[in-house]
Amino acid sequence: MIIHADIVFSEDREHLAVHPDSYIIVEHGKVKAILPVIPEEYKNAPLTDYGDGVLIPAFSDLHVHAPQYLNRGLEMDLLLSDWLDKCTFPMEARYADPEFAKLAYDAFVDDMIANGTMHACVYGTIHSEATSYLLERMDKKGIKGYVGKVNMNRNAQADLLEDTAESIRDTEEFLERYSSNRNTRPILTPRFAPSCTRELINGLGRLGKKYQTGMQTHLVESLWEAEQAKILFPECSCDTEIYERAGLMDNGPVIGGHFIFPSEDDIRIMQKYDSYAVQCPDATISIIAGIMQTGALMDRGMKIGLGSDISAGHHIGVYTQAARSVQLSKLKQFYEPDNNRKITFPEAFWMATKQSGQLFGGTGSLEPGSVFDALVIDGLSDAARKLAPEQIVERFCYIGAKDNIKARYMNGEALSL
Ligand code: GUN
Ligand code: FE
Repeated sequence: MIIHADIVFSEDREHLAVHPDSYIIVEHGKVKAILPVIPEEYKNAPLTDYGDGVLIPAFSDLHVHAPQYLNRGLEMDLLLSDWLDKCTFPMEARYADPEFAKLAYDAFVDDMIANGTMHACVYGTIHSEATSYLLERMDKKGIKGYVGKVNMNRNAQADLLEDTAESIRDTEEFLERYSSNRNTRPILTPRFAPSCTRELINGLGRLGKKYQTGMQTHLVESLWEAEQAKILFPECSCDTEIYERAGLMDNGPVIGGHFIFPSEDDIRIMQKYDSYAVQCPDATISIIAGIMQTGALMDRGMKIGLGSDISAGHHIGVYTQAARSVQLSKLKQFYEPDNNRKITFPEAFWMATKQSGQLFGGTGSLEPGSVFDALVIDGLSDAARKLAPEQIVERFCYIGAKDNIKARYMNGEALSL
């Protein structure tokens, strides 16, 4: 298959690779080459021409709560602890009803793909049946990623609190059933320190080792959460150590949502395991009120991806978070100039594509050898001002919408919605 378009992807953290008016050759679901003309041996291959549409890699959302999809854009005037108790937990409790869950999860998965996200780390709820449906649905749709059955056994309304042994048993069944999946696999998901006892976290650590499964959680998310972590786990010097001590960090990818108030110990432990921190800019603005030290952490070699964090964040398109991440980095530099710097748009795009795509088997790029999960965006230039391809990508992240995505490809195949 050959596609003609303007082609943009991350060359490295600081630079975009831009191939205007080029041909991309895709074979066996992967990019073979990008060329300025069609080579002789491909003269008869099927060609799709997008004119001056821009071909970019599909996005990765490293932190999103599927059950909260129905809450997006609502009750955004609360802060984390109240927001969980008044808005989020009551919604999550409704996923005890599998029929309700199906309706919501079908819409969630469809909207995620429509918005250009093809790889994701997703939280379900404590409910096995509903979370299994979510994982199966994502797997069937070809989304590469992880889904977690959430674990929580303290500090929430009664119908969201699990019996510890049952929580571990249900989680083991979930891992057992889906660990060899092709696209969407299970991941351990202790909600965050205030929600889990040491006994529960240690039990999950044993499962992580047995099934070689990674973990996602919320880490040093707010000052309140970081303080709770210290009170509830006094034996640990920092939030991240709670999980390290249980052996939860050396079995697979570790994805720590937010990471806004890390201590030096948190940073050291995350780097030791080559873990990902996830910036969720909308969530940060709405219910957390803290800003990640994105530039400084990147400069220290930390891996950082972006998350929509539905519904603490309100927009399912993670591309919007690339723009917001640039905006927030300027506020961070302005209010806390020591050791903080603004980030560039290429750095933000890198986080949303190539950096996070490494978690999903070589997605997030269009360089030869990459999995061809890609989008064609269009309709963003003005009649009076034609933009360069990289400007179209930037504008898409600021003011684009799913209607600007004219085509989607997954594993080299065109997707119809
Ligand atoms: N901390 C614990 N649970 C949650 C959640 O559902 N969303 C966010 N943003 N933070 C959390
Ligand atoms: Fe979250």
